[in-house]
Amino acid sequence: MDCIRSDLLQLAPYSAEHYEGVVDKLDANEVPLDLPLALKEELAQALTARLAANRYPDGSYDRLRQAVSEYAGVSKECISLGNGSDELIRSVLIASCVGRGGILIATPTFSMYGILAQTLGIPVYSVGRGERDFTIDIAAAQETIKRENIRAVFVVHPNSPTGNLLRATEIEWLQSLPVDILVVIDEAYYEFAGHSLVGEMQGYPNWVILRTFSKAWRLAAFRLGYAIACPQVIRVLETIRLPYNLSTFTAMGGELVLQYRQEILSLVEAIKQEREKLYQALKQLPQLQVWPSAANFLYLQTADDRNLQQYLARAGTLIRHTGGGLRITIGTPPQNQRTIDRIYSFYKG
Ligand SMILES: Cc1ncc(COP(=O)(O)O)c(C=O)c1O
Repeated sequence: MDCIRSDLLQLAPYSAEHYEGVVDKLDANEVPLDLPLALKEELAQALTARLAANRYPDGSYDRLRQAVSEYAGVSKECISLGNGSDELIRSVLIASCVGRGGILIATPTFSMYGILAQTLGIPVYSVGRGERDFTIDIAAAQETIKRENIRAVFVVHPNSPTGNLLRATEIEWLQSLPVDILVVIDEAYYEFAGHSLVGEMQGYPNWVILRTFSKAWRLAAFRLGYAIACPQVIRVLETIRLPYNLSTFTAMGGELVLQYRQEILSLVEAIKQEREKLYQALKQLPQLQVWPSAANFLYLQTADDRNLQQYLARAGTLIRHTGGGLRITIGTPPQNQRTIDRIYSFYKG
């Protein structure tokens, strides 16, 4: 296959597992409840009345961009919309690294930064994190930046899979990076964390914040994310994005949930309470080490991780083995109770 880059021939396509039937699906950090039926019906009606299926979407997505910018507390010129934040990750890689240099990540972290960089032929350099608090090894990161040609640094706030927010020292480090390095701060779990770095962006034109509608907003099926950055960077992301990257359906879904923001996001508090319940229950087990989390999942480590994951899958609870541990999405109260019961019965019989 000489017509294809040889490095791409070595990579495998991304395969997300898909399960039919009744299981406690706690492996992808989605919110466990669908959109309220009344909202789905409103969307269906709007589609019937307004959608011209034969026409391309309004490729500026102006109304949605405006609504997102109001929610994010920035101007419309500081927002670019993506087909999921995954698309925006690829766009920022194109904007900062293609033909120029590599990215720096601190593992464990979200896998798509490395995967998408590889598909673009961009070198990926990783440093570690503290074993107890998962803070980035800043000394190793600085060393790597000195040694290699790093053009973008990717961090998650709070990190996936470990659930920790960036600490003051890490934020100061990001602020200290030279402006020729793009700093990408992924706030996919912002609504659960209640803490954002948007307020800190002033004076850092090399910062981009990414967010998604796939988690707290319950729109994973629609594929919608957004980037917040200075107008100059946004203009470049707008230049890179494919025309009509969002379907009309996705744009209408985004507008609808923003309009019903209070109702949609009302679940966030309940999920945080459930997170605490699960955390307290799992903390009692000496065989597990579990960490507090600012997101809608918990991260834990155990010597039995693969066995535990398989045991839970057989019992009907899907969780994720990632980053050297297990990540459990917070589900509904009955799902979480089943998770607790099943983990207890794994250890206690
Ligand atoms: C940190 C992080 N960023 C981005 C994404 C992808 O979001 P989207 O569904 O908008 O592509 C995820 C999904 O799990 C994530 O955990």
